[in-house]
Amino acid sequence: MNKTIMVTGGAGFIGANFVLEWLRLDLGRVINLDKLTYAGNLENLVEIQNNTAHIFVHGDIGDSALVAKLLAEHQPYAIVNFAAESHVDRSIHGPEDFIQTNVVGTFHLLEAVRTYWANLNEEHRQNFRFLHISTDEVYGSLAKDDVAFTETHTYAPNSPYSASKAASDHLVRAYHHTYGLPTLTTNCSNNYGPHHFPEKLIPLVIHNALTGKPLPIYGTGQQIRDWLYVEDHCSAIRRVLEAGKVGEVYNVGGWNEKPNIEVVKTLCRILDAKKPREDGQSYMNQITFVEDRLGHDQRYAIDATKIANALGWKPKETFDSGIEKTVNWYLEHQDWVNNVTSGEYRHWVEKHYAERGEELA
Ligand code: NAD
Ligand code: DAU
Repeated sequence: MNKTIMVTGGAGFIGANFVLEWLRLDLGRVINLDKLTYAGNLENLVEIQNNTAHIFVHGDIGDSALVAKLLAEHQPYAIVNFAAESHVDRSIHGPEDFIQTNVVGTFHLLEAVRTYWANLNEEHRQNFRFLHISTDEVYGSLAKDDVAFTETHTYAPNSPYSASKAASDHLVRAYHHTYGLPTLTTNCSNNYGPHHFPEKLIPLVIHNALTGKPLPIYGTGQQIRDWLYVEDHCSAIRRVLEAGKVGEVYNVGGWNEKPNIEVVKTLCRILDAKKPREDGQSYMNQITFVEDRLGHDQRYAIDATKIANALGWKPKETFDSGIEKTVNWYLEHQDWVNNVTSGEYRHWVEKHYAERGEELA
């Protein structure tokens, strides 16, 4: 069997972790299609820059002609679609890119894949998979005592980001139902770990702490997210690709619900121990409550029972072990942080947090 897969968005946070591990595990060739937006970074892939099993292509999932050409040339047996605009706050400032990539881009990608798949021989058509990477945010927000999201939870996206991801999930579902395209969808909770872009809570807090800036907590800090170490997400994706039932959805989560303020205090405690401030004070002194996110979802929680029972997957890391590894990675990769926080990043931080009255750039 051809052991080539195509990954989209493989220069971003989760995609890069997935590609690096796929090649470390020697699972076959990877065609990595990425537009290299502000969130895509070839520095994430330096470890494999000389690996001939990795073929990087700079391009857009919405470019059907390019996708068709790559599919015809490399004949992958699977596509793993990570490519997306992924930051909720950016979707509030400017939703259009989210519609373009997450909805229109996914549509064009599906069209190119459908044509490719329809022309495969019977055996390849049977073995082919289109795995769409989605989010728990499509299910909306939970109240404190609500049960966690299962795969049958009603879709109720609340932000332009989650609405665009919900639309892409529906397209994937429709391509399976209507055309028989062998799709799989995973809806995952909040990831954290190496290569996480410092516009998201955990890497932002580590970066701001170390550079003496305020640690911005939206609203009361009581919103709850369900955290999963990125390598656990990647192992779930590999398992779904290997054994998931065509047309099915699998929720992926870490059983690690935490209020934001608790996550930030944990990071401060770890940094106090590993990299104490020069003045001997705690990083907790940098915590600053700022204006809340518009339409801020109160709580996400994933019920990952289906993937555990059907596919035998469960996360390896606890929040304590994963967060310690994460802080270590950032302390050891300050060059990476310095490179990604120059240029466009500074512009975003200035604009976004200025509205909250904070000087964070
Ligand atoms: P990210 O923003 O770090 O990376 C996205 C990548 O996609 C970047 O490399 C970017 O250059 C690329 N990209 C964007 N538009 C593209 C286009 N039109 N064509 C090709 N490439 C394009 O995102 P992430 O956090 O790694 O998330 C990856 C996927 O996982 C997304 O689909 C996201 O919705 C989903 N997800 C993320 C999380 C999380 O906590 N980060 C949780 C659940 C699901
Ligand atoms: O749930 C999965 C989702 O998790 C993914 O689909 C998204 O792509 C990913 O970005 C993430 O979305 P969140 O909005 O939950 O992540 P973020 O890191 O932006 O925020 C986490 C929580 O922290 C959220 O409640 C908002 C809050 N927050 C965030 C930032 C950036 C703050 O309090 N202060 C901040 O400065």
